[in-house]
Amino acid sequence: MGRQVDFPLIFERSVPERRGVRSPVCDVPAQPLAELLGSHNLRAEPPALPEVSELDALRHYTRLSQRNYGIDIGFYPLGSCTMKYNPRINEKVAALTGFTHAHPLQPESLSQGALQLMYELQQDLKAITGFAEVTLQNVAGAHGELLSLMLIKKYHETRGEGERRKIVLVPDSAHGTNPASAALCGYTVQSIPTNADGDTDLDALQKAIEQHGDAIAAMMLTNPSTLGLFDRNARKACELLHAVGALVFCDGANMNAMVGVVRPADIGFDCMHLNLHKTFSTPHGGGGPGAGAVGVSEKLAPFLPTPRIVQQDDCYALSYDHPHSIGRVHAFYGNFLNLVRAYAYIRAYGGENLRNIGEFAVLNANYMLARIRHAFPPAIDRLCMHECVVTARHFKQQYGVRAFDIAKRLLDYGFHPPTMYFPLIVPECLMIEPTESESKQTIDMFANALLEIAREAMEQPELLQNAPHNTPVRRLDEAGAAKNLILRWQGAVIYPQEVPACAC
Ligand SMILES: Cc1ncc(COP(=O)(O)O)c(C=O)c1O
Repeated sequence: MGRQVDFPLIFERSVPERRGVRSPVCDVPAQPLAELLGSHNLRAEPPALPEVSELDALRHYTRLSQRNYGIDIGFYPLGSCTMKYNPRINEKVAALTGFTHAHPLQPESLSQGALQLMYELQQDLKAITGFAEVTLQNVAGAHGELLSLMLIKKYHETRGEGERRKIVLVPDSAHGTNPASAALCGYTVQSIPTNADGDTDLDALQKAIEQHGDAIAAMMLTNPSTLGLFDRNARKACELLHAVGALVFCDGANMNAMVGVVRPADIGFDCMHLNLHKTFSTPHGGGGPGAGAVGVSEKLAPFLPTPRIVQQDDCYALSYDHPHSIGRVHAFYGNFLNLVRAYAYIRAYGGENLRNIGEFAVLNANYMLARIRHAFPPAIDRLCMHECVVTARHFKQQYGVRAFDIAKRLLDYGFHPPTMYFPLIVPECLMIEPTESESKQTIDMFANALLEIAREAMEQPELLQNAPHNTPVRRLDEAGAAKNLILRWQGAVIYPQEVPACAC
């Protein structure tokens, strides 16, 4: 067990009237704020900001940055999130002033390079996914789900079936954002169970289709699923749904496992979203700016958002003349610099080699599973795809040690924990995604730590139940900290309870 480091919080360093910066004396007449902003917009009390010197503020932020954990610091096996290495070449290319200084309102004639890049990225993603068209306008995976459902809705409306088709089927192994996107789009969600082999339960699907028939607008199928498995019933599911006029959306956020190996359009999907921040290595920017992409079949192409990026003769242009388009889903053309990063990544890998991404991601996850499975059995015993989902249920039953405690103990070993308690259908679940970036040595180090922790769980359960011991801050109530934002900001509350984690 390590030393508990006890630095004073920035609020505790505060001394009344101490200043980091002194503003020059104002040489213009002061304007009464109440007149400028309206007195009802002024706060009654000044904010309780810490009053510290510039040096104290600098040290505060430096210390925080040193406590931060990221892919550049260590192994980050957060399942479902694909925390792969972001190659520095992406950053170099995205930092070129021709890109960073481009203005979105610049005329097309002065934006040819940017337009060409987006056009070629669309072409690459079409080749990778097999879809007829791709848009780059959505700025996250969940945004791509919503966009895809909006396209599906418009498709049914155009055929005069919008009123009738109100149901979206979502397997229980789908990502949590799927039902949320369907609900946001005005659909009623019906869950479809996963069978014991981890595939969509075709009997249950057939029953739902018999029950709801042409009231079904679509199915949203995550493939590979959140169980880290390739859904072998996906093709059959597409056929069953197409037979009643419904469409099938593929949540392609886990495309990292299949890139260069499988084209989702060939399975029969009508549309899919890609998470460029996962498969194509653009950063997960702490909630933004993200970048997605949505690929669609011919039947959904007329409804894609405008402007679309097209090639006309030797030039590239923004095309608005699409009368059936659902319109914009984001300002301008998406988060452009993240598109530059994805483009650089694909080009740096180069056509045929893209297949290595999927193959090594799958190999690494299966190697991890092979190393730990005697202590942490897989939720479903088959070859996994890019991540392995294992259970710690037996540790809870026999020693009172939960997946949560194991994750906390991993912090003492210097590792970021995997995703926990997701997918919800696996009890005491740990979801480990090494990604293709990691070497065998790193995977071995992590597996060794997990196995050591499994031994500790049996011999000293309280060591895990009270972990972490070697971190600057011990166990927190993360839900309380997230909910009580202001108190958390002031660093004033430490709660002793547990919370499940979520997955991105
Ligand atoms: C399977 C799956 N679907 C959807 C999403 C949502 O993507 P985003 O966080 O970009 O909105 C994620 C998150 O990574 C995911 O793993």
